[in-house]
Amino acid sequence: MKTLSDIGLVGLAVMGENLILNMESKGFTVTAYNRSVEKVTNFIEGRAAGKNIRGAKSIEELVASLAKPRKVMLMVKAGQPVDDFIEQLIPHLEEGDIIIDGGNTHYPDTDRRTAYLESKGLLFIGTGVSGGEEGALTGPSIMPGGSPAAWPFVKDIFQGISAKVEDGSPCCDWVGENGAGHFVKMVHNGIEYGDMQLICEAYQIMKEVLGMSPDEMHEVFAEWNTGVLDSYLTEITRDILAFKDEDGEPLVEKILDTAGQKGTGKWTGVIALDLGVPLTLISEAVFARCLSAKKEERVEASKVINGPAVNFTGDKKQLIDDLRDALFASKIISYAQGYLLMREAAKEYNWKLNYGGIAMMWRGGCIIRSSFLGNIKEAFDNNPELQNLLLDDYFRTTVENAQAGWRRVAAAAISNGIPAPTITSALTYFDGYRTARLPANLLQAQRDYFGAHTYERLDKPRGEFFHTNWTGRGGSTSSTTYDV
Ligand code: 6PG
Repeated sequence: MKTLSDIGLVGLAVMGENLILNMESKGFTVTAYNRSVEKVTNFIEGRAAGKNIRGAKSIEELVASLAKPRKVMLMVKAGQPVDDFIEQLIPHLEEGDIIIDGGNTHYPDTDRRTAYLESKGLLFIGTGVSGGEEGALTGPSIMPGGSPAAWPFVKDIFQGISAKVEDGSPCCDWVGENGAGHFVKMVHNGIEYGDMQLICEAYQIMKEVLGMSPDEMHEVFAEWNTGVLDSYLTEITRDILAFKDEDGEPLVEKILDTAGQKGTGKWTGVIALDLGVPLTLISEAVFARCLSAKKEERVEASKVINGPAVNFTGDKKQLIDDLRDALFASKIISYAQGYLLMREAAKEYNWKLNYGGIAMMWRGGCIIRSSFLGNIKEAFDNNPELQNLLLDDYFRTTVENAQAGWRRVAAAAISNGIPAPTITSALTYFDGYRTARLPANLLQAQRDYFGAHTYERLDKPRGEFFHTNWTGRGGSTSSTTYDV
């Protein structure tokens, strides 16, 4: 073992342990530390035995074991525990040493911590790490941001342990300053919420409208996973549908239908509202989880509120193919919206985001990994300034070709009373985006009517505002024209 470790890691839950083992397997020596020290002993005597991993029983011991500049990665619960460890570490670190937060931290916290540690002569990295337990061990997607000066010192470790795509390039690159890495990870998670909800809607339509069994749906997902929907989430859905409980019945049908959430999808929706980005699909996916959580209320409502009886007389095979097209088209909308959010945030926070590079970071290792991300990379290679994925030739024609089936699915869901919030809202966004004249003219008239909020006219230059005395009673005084 080297006399000094390449990196220290704090937090021996499963993600932390697996990252350490991954680092060690790539030739790095790691010091492990945990607040409850018996976890360190268990790890060193257990999974880490015989490896280039040393245990530390205190923060002092951890810091003393590290090569300079020291690198300490925190894999602890997001929030106060990160601040607490930072405070414990600061007195023992020297100028140029690096603290890394690898949790699902809200990006404004990473902005704050970067500024704080830089003010103390230290460097900070806030990084997204995606891929769950298995990814951490075998190759996660890693999205680092924070102090740019820290990147050269951690690059080899991070890119060494990250997933690799077919050509060997790592699913990890520098994202940008301050909270940029955690912002991109947050959008990743929002997209994850959207992808999962889309799959769930397809499942419910297959189950309720077509009366399919989990085994039949398993076959469909297995086939979908060999085509354009090929992705980790399609793959695990295929396996979940085939999984039997001890009594031989499908386990999925025994699971309570209330979704949990840890907040990253909500943060994505909140910042989209703040920045005025129509992030409709991800937001609907978050709300779908919220509605699912109202189980008791839904059960009561189901007893008293009537909807249509399910009545499908069409071609089953056709609807399954349509569902595939609906999922793919909706997924394109979701990523288009996620990228719009990143573009807007980059403007707001002065980040230079590499959009094709982000697609490559998500191409392998993470929860939303899929072959489709290769097409996104290509779209940005063709046009780095691409305003909306829907304007890229491949994505535009793909959605145009899928739209007939997509519309049939939306119609089938609506007419049979099956909720499909992400599939239908994605279609509504698509129709809104390609509509030159929306009814906001009437909306402006309403605003002006009741509040003298003024409007612009088609026959006058932009920026000239008019007020009409609609009732003959209001006079000609208008209110100010500020917009949020
Ligand atoms: C990942 C995941 C992970 C996330 C879980 C749970 O990229 O590995 O995004 O970071 O914590 O998926 O998220 P929810 O509890 O909000 O569903």
